[in-house]
Amino acid sequence: MSAPSSVTIVGASLAGLRAAETLRRDGFDGPVALIGDELHEPYDRPPLSKQVLAGNWAPDRIALTPSDKLADLDLDLRLGARATGFDLADRTLRLAGGETLEVDAVLIATGARCRTLGPPREGVHVLRSLDDCLALRADFDAAPDRVVVVGAGFIGAEVAATARTRGLDVAMVEALDAPLSRVLGPEMGEVCAAVHRDHGIDLRTGVGVEGFDGAGRVERVRLTDGSAIDASVVVVGIGVVPNTEWLEGSGLALDNGVVCDAAGLAAPGVAAAGDVARWPNRRFGYSMRVEHWDNAAAQGAHSARALLGADDPYEPVPWFWSDQYDRKIQLAGHVRPDDEVKVVTGSVAERRFAALYGRGGRLVGALGFNRPRHVMRYRAMIEQGAAFEEAVAAEV
Ligand code: FAD
Ligand code: NAI
Repeated sequence: MSAPSSVTIVGASLAGLRAAETLRRDGFDGPVALIGDELHEPYDRPPLSKQVLAGNWAPDRIALTPSDKLADLDLDLRLGARATGFDLADRTLRLAGGETLEVDAVLIATGARCRTLGPPREGVHVLRSLDDCLALRADFDAAPDRVVVVGAGFIGAEVAATARTRGLDVAMVEALDAPLSRVLGPEMGEVCAAVHRDHGIDLRTGVGVEGFDGAGRVERVRLTDGSAIDASVVVVGIGVVPNTEWLEGSGLALDNGVVCDAAGLAAPGVAAAGDVARWPNRRFGYSMRVEHWDNAAAQGAHSARALLGADDPYEPVPWFWSDQYDRKIQLAGHVRPDDEVKVVTGSVAERRFAALYGRGGRLVGALGFNRPRHVMRYRAMIEQGAAFEEAVAAEV
């Protein structure tokens, strides 16, 4: 495959920026456009539920790269520009406002956006962007009587922890039986539940939200079991949907994400990366879409190289961290709720341990609560294709 004449990256966040950096590092000196609908230069999202929301970091600390380094990449950087359509056959990209760009290679990195509960209402927040974070932080600064967090996934668990650490009264409502059980499984989900209850969270599980009450600003959250919780601030963290609407009718396959091949290509000269990309991860033998930082960075780089002609498959052992209170929770691998799980070191009661996940006799996941070294060693074992029992017995 010959090198593209230009590369247009849509989505100016982690995956998009890492793609642009990789193109330049690998010697691509043609035009590179980086198009994003936010007004900010690329910034890091993890601190939005942690240090920035806590009030410990000013927003200017979260730039993904300093402005002068960004300028050195010599990009056609278009901020506040939303892509509204793409035509694979014509190689045209439409922007809001009516402009149409002729493009050659395209990298799709439009990420995901929050699911919502009902129409916008004062006091009800989602958390995805810096602007969302600053709006929520302003409500926290006003010392609300009670914060209700809907959904005990990553956003819910981290926001609840940050709000409690700020001294706020917090209730958290989760439809499943335990927090984070979708990703960690039910047993480890119960451990997370205990951590939150230990810190004084009023955790309600196995119950959904019926609606919100209040004249204007939210005053109460009505639950599906008939009960209600008074609330001055609500944070809804009930999952995300990939931003693919602008690609409908483009000629690309969409299925809860942009469907890519093993290398990250959605079509010749079109790649995707990060939260928006679905691809067959051969290491695990099925297709996945990963919604975590390390994958967005690594896949952004990998998919950029695919546009330059590399055809090696992208087959990572995904990895993420989540900071909650004084715990650093990390998971390497890809876990399903019915995987076998075994605690191999440390103490669940002390909330400092490592647990392994097995499926079909293979090691598929490693979870650590304040055990970073263990998680990385087990991650290497997953990469090597270790058997579950071998990993359980290993001295790490
Ligand atoms: P995104 O970061 O979603 O970026 C996509 C960009 O594309 C956005 O700027 C979006 O506005 C833009 N865009 C969308 N549609 C269009 C369009 N049509 N035209 C132009 N631009 C468009 N992961 C971890 O592993 N650990 C953590 O501790 C952690 N903490 C997190 C905390 C928060 C609050 C959030 C929200 C996420 C966190 N994550 C964490 C997840 C991690 O940040 C994401 O996986 C990562 O941001 C994905 O990067 P991305 O570039 O694929 O997508
Ligand atoms: P999530 O998918 O992690 O969790 C959503 C939770 O909401 C699930 O537990 C689900 O059962 C629950 N839920 C769904 N509908 C509900 C309802 N009506 N009532 C009550 N509970 C309901 O999504 P979340 O937490 O919104 O996170 C959004 C994105 O941000 C994800 O992509 C996540 O990976 C990312 N993120 C990652 C972090 C990390 O890796 N440390 C930290 C923060 C966000």
